[in-house]
Amino acid sequence: MNTIPRDFDPIPSTRYQVRVAVVSLKQAADEADALAVPVAAGVEPPEELGTDLAGLESAGFTGKRGQTLVLPRADGPVRVAVGIGERGETDPALVRDLAAEFARAVPWHRKLAIEVASEGFGVSVADFAQAVTEGVLLARWRYFVGRDAEQPPLESLLIVASDDDTAAAEIGAERGRIVATACSLGRDLANCPATTLSAVRMAEVAVEVGGASGLEVEVFDKDQLIAMGCGGLLGVNRGSVEPPRMVRLRYQPADPTGRIALIGKGIMYDSGGISLKPSDESHAQMKNDMTGAAAVLASMTALRDLGCTAAVTGYLMCTDNMPSGSAMKLGDVLTMRNGTTVEVLNTDAEGRLVMADALALATEEPVDAIVDIATLTGACLRTFGVEIAGVMGNNPAVVEQLRRAGDSVDEPVWELPLHRSYRSQLESTIADMTNMGGINAGSITAALFLEEFVAGLPWAHVDIAGTAQLPAPRTWRNKGATGFGTKLLIEFALRFAAPKDGAA
Ligand code: BES
Ligand code: MN
Ligand code: ZN
Repeated sequence: MNTIPRDFDPIPSTRYQVRVAVVSLKQAADEADALAVPVAAGVEPPEELGTDLAGLESAGFTGKRGQTLVLPRADGPVRVAVGIGERGETDPALVRDLAAEFARAVPWHRKLAIEVASEGFGVSVADFAQAVTEGVLLARWRYFVGRDAEQPPLESLLIVASDDDTAAAEIGAERGRIVATACSLGRDLANCPATTLSAVRMAEVAVEVGGASGLEVEVFDKDQLIAMGCGGLLGVNRGSVEPPRMVRLRYQPADPTGRIALIGKGIMYDSGGISLKPSDESHAQMKNDMTGAAAVLASMTALRDLGCTAAVTGYLMCTDNMPSGSAMKLGDVLTMRNGTTVEVLNTDAEGRLVMADALALATEEPVDAIVDIATLTGACLRTFGVEIAGVMGNNPAVVEQLRRAGDSVDEPVWELPLHRSYRSQLESTIADMTNMGGINAGSITAALFLEEFVAGLPWAHVDIAGTAQLPAPRTWRNKGATGFGTKLLIEFALRFAAPKDGAA
């Protein structure tokens, strides 16, 4: 459709694999070019650091949590003192963060080594190795399509373990590698410019990466969407010269322990449509309005390799939202997949329109829980900022499972009330409902809109409008489009238990 002078691969970081290996200290000293050495606050550091407490303090290094100091060295890998603070209460999130600080302290070193120190951190060897792998690989991930794009930023991560710990460390490292690879895919997709990553291209990527990870992938084009009555996705697509795509992904383990539907908002670019957005900073980020779809696709690529026992069906709802002579007009009425008519009072409230069709489709097959994820409302960014996602739903057990999964992977989600009295804000005089609530409680009215399409089945909605972008890097989190939700959905699927009558 589009002809652009120099096109590029939308998912460049997935083209090279970082080697993650569990090795002896001797091997690490021979091969690595930087070695992390954890240092507790106010305590003599381990001998392999090559300096003592006084030496560290003279350089201003106190061992404060997250502090790093690179120690130059004539031979062998440079030593990087990594402050772990006071010993004591810790969890995998801290290990992940500290490993990320280490990786960021030596940005030009290609072979990094870290010793397993799980006892000091109160986590298992496997969890330690997994957290370290995620932290290092994600801190060193980058999306770059300029001149030196071919150079992998990181070649290998060597995890130093004793013979006794090797097997557990290998299991953890492999899990970490799988999770980090999935997250990298999510980030690549969210960062790829919208003209390069059209809905058609997104579907092509889904076929490629989905196929390679054992998923069944079906792509639905415009004619098929017309035949299926997907009036929401088609309505939003009307202003675009790029055709829409719906992608359905299926992960089907042998004896599934539960059935999940995941639905991702795939607005490849959200200009607002006829209700055009101002050309501000927020508009400039709208290539990432498909982060929900990216998180669904990316998370599903990890399910087989992580041994997920639940069956998962994913829906990616992909189109641009553009103004043009053929675009939706304010006051137009769309008929959605489930027959509901919607009066469009603001074409910038497009996410809920494309999600509605997929929610309706998901209810048409047996399913234990439906989870949708979307960069849905600016109100959610205002409420929670960029570090916490919002969650709402009709089933406390599903909401709670999402909350716990988010906590455990450090992608936090916090519940807002799905207060039904606000439903009246969506009343239309000529159709079943409008797509626009009032100016207040925008995240809640958006969720109430979505609820109309789930036919009372257990459902939760995750609003990632805030967390989809970060203004500055922090530990393993990257600047720019974050791909938030990939780890959350992986963990949710791995731990999933079908809800019973709404109990947590
Ligand atoms: N994609 C936006 C939401 C968004 C805003 C995400 C800022 C990230 C940062 C969504 O499609 C949108 O425009 N929502 C409107 C809804 C309103 C018109 C009811 C909003 O939040 O202003
Ligand atoms: Mn919008
Ligand atoms: Zn949007």
